[in-house]
Amino acid sequence: MTAARPLLDVRDLVAGYGQISVLAGVSFEVGEGEMVAILGGNGAGKTTLIRAVSGVIRSAGGRVIFSGRDIAGWTTDRVGEEGLIQVPEGRQVFASLEVEENLRLGAILRRARANAKSELERVYALFPRLAERRRQAAGTLSGGEQQMLAIGRALMARPVLMMLDEPSLGLAPIMVDAMFETITQLAREGMSLVLVEQNVAESLAICKRAYVLENGKVVLSGRCDALLADDRVRQAYLGI
Ligand SMILES: Nc1ncnc2c1ncn2[C@@H]1O[C@H](COP(=O)(O)OP(=O)(O)OP(=O)(O)O)[C@@H](O)[C@H]1O
Ligand SMILES: [Mg+2]
Repeated sequence: MTAARPLLDVRDLVAGYGQISVLAGVSFEVGEGEMVAILGGNGAGKTTLIRAVSGVIRSAGGRVIFSGRDIAGWTTDRVGEEGLIQVPEGRQVFASLEVEENLRLGAILRRARANAKSELERVYALFPRLAERRRQAAGTLSGGEQQMLAIGRALMARPVLMMLDEPSLGLAPIMVDAMFETITQLAREGMSLVLVEQNVAESLAICKRAYVLENGKVVLSGRCDALLADDRVRQAYLGI
């Protein structure tokens, strides 16, 4: 378990879309400086969970305690100002804007404006390919480069906790490895992270703890090394 008071403490979260209920009371926590994986197959509710935590959709019940405050019902901007930043599924970069314009939009939050210049240099140091392509329209980047841009944009907001929704989706194996290496580096630097993934084996290899979602419920959770050895995980998600 994590420290007495986790950075993010989600309790019995209920959320969905209109009449459609998706999350049926999900609880999970993230300690300061911890990297936690949320795993599960298509339609399990992973994206809905990230959206409900970050305020993109309104939760219908439960609590989202971040840095000691219940942020359930807050707007995404307000949640972002607290330092809880998501990298959305499917990158969602602004295709017609240049790489650097996309990055600068990440620093639009009050918390980030003053440091935009130094953060930009940090992002370019982390992703030299983005520096080389700073004047290129984001829509013409490769899938892997767009994912770098999406992460870079989130970094511009100076996150305390970054939630990544399937960063490896659609990437070639070599890009997947590079992406996981970058995420590991951010964790080493002390960033708190939530990693939503279908890439179960790789995620369990780099995270400390994980939660497995099925049908809007946590069906398994624990330390990643224990989950890697768990027969249910091996059969259902690793195919071994
Ligand atoms: N905007 C929406 N309106 C109605 N239902 C939705 C909406 N978005 C998602 N759903 C439904 O909610 C359920 C959970 O979807 P969600 O996107 O959270 O799954 P996921 O675990 O992220 O899946 P994937 O791995 O495919 O991204 C699915 O049954 C999906 O059809
Ligand atoms: Mg999803």
